[in-house]
This record gives sequence, C-alpha cells and structure tokens, in this order.
Amino acid sequence: MTEHLTIVDHPLVQHKLTLMREVETSTNSFRRLLREISLLLAYEVTREMGMTTKRITTPLCEMDAPVIEGKKLALVSILRAGNGLMDGILELIPAARVGFVGLYRDEETLKPVQYYNKLPDNLGDRLTIVVDPMLATGNSSAAAIDLVKEAGATNIRFLCLLAAPEGVARMKEAHPDVPVITAALDEKLNEKGYIVPGLGDAGDRMFGTK
Ligand code: URA
Repeated sequence: MTEHLTIVDHPLVQHKLTLMREVETSTNSFRRLLREISLLLAYEVTREMGMTTKRITTPLCEMDAPVIEGKKLALVSILRAGNGLMDGILELIPAARVGFVGLYRDEETLKPVQYYNKLPDNLGDRLTIVVDPMLATGNSSAAAIDLVKEAGATNIRFLCLLAAPEGVARMKEAHPDVPVITAALDEKLNEKGYIVPGLGDAGDRMFGTK
C-alpha cells in the first residue's frame, strides 16, 4: 500500500454507508450495517498481507497452497466507537490479537488524554490495524498511533468509515508512514468538530446513547 489515503469505493460499501448516514436509520440497523461494512473494509485493509505457501494434499494430489505468512494481525480499537468497526473484522479474522486505547479530549488544552491502554505483545511482528469509525480532527487517531508505535508496531494501517480533510492532513503530518483506509472523504469539520455531512456521533448511533 503506497498511497497515504485509500477510499474504498466499492458499490456495496457506498450503498451501506448512505444507509448509515440517514438520520432515520435505527440503532439496530446502524449496528448491522457497520458490521457488514467492516467486513468489506477488512477485505481491503488486509489486501497486502504477506503470503507464503504450505504443502497440502487435496483429494487429487499434493500442492503448494497460499496461506498468510507469519504472526499475522493485531487490531487496536480506539474506544468506544472503534469497537463497532472491530467486531466485524474479528468475525473475518478471529485469530487476530486485540488491543484497546481509550482517549478523551481535555476541554482546556483540547489535547487527547489517555485513560486506557492495553495492547498485545509482539506488535513488531504483526500488521497492526488501528480502527475508529470517524477520522475527524485526527488528534486522537494520531495519539493512538503514537501509543502503538511506542509498543513496537512498525507496519500500521488506520481504518475508518468517514474521514474529514483536516483529519487526513493531521495524520499525514504526524504519521506519513501509516496508510489511511476509509469509505469516504467528507467535506469538512463543523465548529463542534463533527464531520459534515457525516453521520453524527458514531458511538451514540451504534450504542443508542445521546
Ligand atoms: N466523532 C463522531 O462520532 N462523529 C463525528 O462527526 C466526529 C467525531
């Protein structure tokens, strides 16, 4: 993956995202759509995983068949909305190691403050996919990636559902080595830091809170 930003423009992804954006979409449907879309995004974000072969026997003969190489994958969810994106990916890759990073925004400094950090061992041996549905200012995403790098990760991707240009620019400045994969690049952030047109607060929409 050489591009810093990849937009997954597959028709199924775009159709499901449109349904998720609609204000009338229920919590139940939002969650189901997020799970479905995360499977499709997982397919894209893992496209360049290293491959090797394994000698197997089919009913007809022996062959060298392709398998994923090495220690494979770690998923890191930025709490809490990241969990919605992670659940679907885990259905596809159930052996992945899982980590969580919790960050909140200090209202005075506007900087992310860490309140939780539990990451898998041996991140240096794994493709590490950091997930958060909304790349808005990019401050918490960049801080989460600082933490996974401190824990040894070197091969990192950031996966989101929607990105704002401000967030993409912040990530490119802070972590030019980390490709960003998203379903859409929206127009802008509003004065409250929401992505416009966006889909609202992803955590509230998936958990039914306000
Ligand atoms: N987080 C959200 O959940 N929604 C936004 O629009 C921006 C950040």
